[in-house]
Amino acid sequence: MTKGTYSFTTPIYYVNAAPHLGTAYTTVAADTVARYQRMNGYDVAFVTGMDEHGQKVADTAASKGMPPQAWCDSMEPAFREAWDMLGITYTDFVRTTEPRHARTVQKFWGDLHDRGYCYKDSYEGWYCVHEETYYAESDLEKNEEGQLVCPDCKRPVQRMSSGEENWFFRLSDFQQPLLDFYASHPDFIRPETRRNEIVAFVEGGLKDLSISRSTFDWGVPLPFDEGHVAYVWADALLAYLTGIGYGDDEKRAGEFEARWPMQYHFVGKDITRFHCVIWPAMLMAAGLPVTHTVFGHGFLLTKGEKMSKSKGNGVMPADLVEVFGVDAYRYYFMTDVQFGQDGNISMERMVQVYNADLANTWGNLVSRVFNMTKKYFDGRVPEALVNVPGMDNPLAAVAAELYGTYDECMAQVDFTGAAAAVQKLAEAANLYVEQAAPWTLAKDPAKADQLAFVMYNLLESIRIIALYMAPFMPNTSAEVCRRLGLADPALVEDIQAATVWGQLPAGNAVEVGDPLFPRLDTDAISLEE
Ligand code: MSP
Repeated sequence: MTKGTYSFTTPIYYVNAAPHLGTAYTTVAADTVARYQRMNGYDVAFVTGMDEHGQKVADTAASKGMPPQAWCDSMEPAFREAWDMLGITYTDFVRTTEPRHARTVQKFWGDLHDRGYCYKDSYEGWYCVHEETYYAESDLEKNEEGQLVCPDCKRPVQRMSSGEENWFFRLSDFQQPLLDFYASHPDFIRPETRRNEIVAFVEGGLKDLSISRSTFDWGVPLPFDEGHVAYVWADALLAYLTGIGYGDDEKRAGEFEARWPMQYHFVGKDITRFHCVIWPAMLMAAGLPVTHTVFGHGFLLTKGEKMSKSKGNGVMPADLVEVFGVDAYRYYFMTDVQFGQDGNISMERMVQVYNADLANTWGNLVSRVFNMTKKYFDGRVPEALVNVPGMDNPLAAVAAELYGTYDECMAQVDFTGAAAAVQKLAEAANLYVEQAAPWTLAKDPAKADQLAFVMYNLLESIRIIALYMAPFMPNTSAEVCRRLGLADPALVEDIQAATVWGQLPAGNAVEVGDPLFPRLDTDAISLEE
């Protein structure tokens, strides 16, 4: 019995370049949610994939001297391998060039056409290939050479020939319905700052959206006019439906109905407008409910600037994983930058967080307690004594509060808050070691019960911390549990029940093992090198 479905997406990423820290950021965040909500009893769908159509990818393929399909195929391993390296547990990986996705696009737009939401007209205006976005001349800026440039990426824009006939979606019909929807669904756009931006944008008026191109053919043909391919965003957004069975409705009968609307789309703040204006309007036009929340996270910055390859500050995830390991990578990005806000990242800061939270707090706790278990109890979990005169157990009280705080933070995708709640128990346990001083108790045979009581409390805290850390650091948690003679926490289906105090079996063999997080030298290389 599950608590129900819990479904969400990352953007599907353009295949013009391999995954970088920015795309890995959203993907790790979604994976943290996936891992937690599975342990919390939900039936999770986590959709990611590759955005393969459109001019940007076609141009990249041409510059590599490859046909676009061959180029896209060649990029799939880079994405799959990066996500495997980071321990990403997606449930579907949608490629927009797959036949099942073409079926989604054709079914969806065919339906909108039948409902009267599409019409043909000529388009005049500007296009930014990098952003795959149309702009009116009044939106554009000028660069130092006087060229018209994209207001977002500042690259020169292309003039769309006035002769090009396009299909349009009646987006302007949805201005008021969207504003009403935002007002009645305060959680639709988060965080709040993004919501204000979107509301102001829609209040400023909406133009109909060109949803097709006829001057090139790298896309899904529209079912009602085969000479036109779908505009890349009119194609890509629909991957969210494909990922839960919409284009495969015979093979995956009932899945779409069970999972739509989804709980979340996780996106970067630069693409919230597509997700909060165009996408809900498309869904409304199709008569489908709208996703519960679009969460627009901030940018990762190095020295205050957005990272990008062209600025030369595009460190790859594998570079950092090599130094810190996967779990510390995930922990750092999920906790040190508050999800929703921009955040500066640096190698120095990563070393600091690693040493403070992982080496000195969590790793140190496990190492001390396991070593003492070996020394005082022959490497076995002692009996769980409930009442030992003169002794109290402050850790059970901290642990009892944990589910409520952690679950609330995770539901709100406040990863920083969730991890801080777990760290509180680890800190309390380290303090308890100091205060209870097992090494002193061990010297007095009359205090054997007290020693057993203290050590059991510490080992049980470690078990509970491992479970709550598992969504962030799945490998370390599995290893800690293994050393305690327990199953992989990823198999837990009711974390609330599994973390009720006192379930660590007495007598389990405890393996000391190597340090989980050996301390790192602060002189480690900086990101810019
Ligand atoms: N293909 C579209 C999405 C279509 S979804 C239906 C796309 N692809 S992308 O490859 O450009 O994806 C970029 C994603 O990575 C965006 O969510 C963007 O915000 C994110 N990031 C790119 N650089 C980033 C940082 N420096 N920091 C955090 N995330 C940033 O857009």
